Parts: sequence; C-alpha cells; structure tokens
Amino acid sequence: MSMGSNREEMGIIAASLRQHVQRGEKAGIRFLSRAESGGDKLEDVAELAPGEGIEGNLFSDYASAYRSKTLEELRAAIGDCHRCKLWSGRTHLVFGVGNPKAKVMFVGEGPGRDEDIQGEPFVGRAGRLLTDIITKGMGLRREDVYIANVIKCRPPDNRNPESDEIESCEPFLVKQIELIRPRVIVALGKFAVQTLLKSKVPIMRLRGSWHVYRGTKLMPTLHPAYLLRNPGDKKLVWEDIKKVLQELRSPSD
Ligand code: URA
Repeated sequence: MSMGSNREEMGIIAASLRQHVQRGEKAGIRFLSRAESGGDKLEDVAELAPGEGIEGNLFSDYASAYRSKTLEELRAAIGDCHRCKLWSGRTHLVFGVGNPKAKVMFVGEGPGRDEDIQGEPFVGRAGRLLTDIITKGMGLRREDVYIANVIKCRPPDNRNPESDEIESCEPFLVKQIELIRPRVIVALGKFAVQTLLKSKVPIMRLRGSWHVYRGTKLMPTLHPAYLLRNPGDKKLVWEDIKKVLQELRSPSD
C-alpha cells in the first residue's frame, strides 16, 4: 500500500470515528477517556451482543466506500446517506456525472435547487455556463469530463456548506478522484479549492497557478455562479482554462 493510500485510509478512518462519536453523543452516549472509565474492562464489552458494541459498527460508515473499486460500487456504498444533517432536505443525492476515465475532473461546491431536483451536478444556470466553458471553451463534450461536488446534498436555501457536512462527505470525493485518476482537476470556487488544498488563502490569490492534490495537478478557478454575478471576471477563468488545455496537450509525465 502506498504512502498516499495509507494517508487516505487514515483520513477515512478518522472521518468514520468522528461520525461515530458525534452520533453517539447525539444519542446521549458520553464517551469516557480510558482514565475516566477505569481502564479496559473486557467483561463490559463481552456482555454486548455481536454487532451491538461500538466495535461492531465503528468503521462501517465509510469502510465499503473505501473498498469500492468502481464509481458504481462507490455510489452503492454511499447508499441512502444519513451521515450528515443534509439528508433530510434533499430530493436526490447528487453523486457525479461523466466519463469514469476522464482526463479532466471539475469539482464544484454542492448541488443547488436544479441539481437536487434532477440528481445531476451543474444543470442549472451556473451549470449551463460550466457546460459552455467545457464545450465552447475547451472543445470537449460534457460526457468527456467528470463533474462532481464537494458535498453531495443540497444545503437548505443554498447556504454555504458547513464544516461538519464537508467532513462527512469529503471521503467520497477523495475516493471519486482516486477511482477516476484524472490528469487535471479543475476546482471551481472557494469551497472546492479550499477543501481540496486544505487552504484558507483567498481564491483570487490561488487561482491561475498550478497546485498539486495528492499527486494530481489542480487548477483553482472561479465558480461559474460567481461569474454570473461578475461577468467581467470571465476573462480570468479563460486564462486558467487555457493553462489546463496547454497541460492536456503536453505529453504526460
Ligand atoms: N454549484 C455547484 O457548486 N455545484 C453544482 O452542482 C451546481 C451549482
């Protein structure tokens, strides 16, 4: 197993553990430190029926997602997701769309109203602009690339994703990227860029230059929804996309 996948596995286990503790706490369980609990008492654990104890479901939330070998398996592993609070307001979980062997993967923030209704990312107004960037700007078809979001369910009233929602969903994006293995990731807007790069640097300073995400080249650029409000900045995105096209045309390393 490579260093990268070890790190990824640790990240997924940490996310599982965090989820498990949060759920337990919501259900009224108080987790004791080893000192508070008087040490390990195996007889307490032994009284639980198999599968009832903490150990029984500790890693189950993400384990099958981590083991997935295809996008279909990953989607099935996510299931009817209740891992964060957004499940209650969604119509569809918006997994992702496109070529599973895409050379370019676009990562946005999260589904809006149209995406929630249709179950597909970037199909509303911002989506139409992204489609223009892909087709008219890059000379590709939407089916040639892969499009996904950081979070897979629509936040109420299109509010910004919250950190617990991002943490719950991020392992799935990590796995999507690992399965697709694109040559280039184009991260759209502040949330995608800051989540993937683990950075708080403003998007305007990050955009336009190459970064590396787990060994894959990543180009941060402005979100299409921002461009709808600030059409004058389209030229900045075009500069970024030209760099992506140049990279795709150059021989791979
Ligand atoms: N904005 C996003 O970030 N993602 C979508 O899928 C749609 C709008």
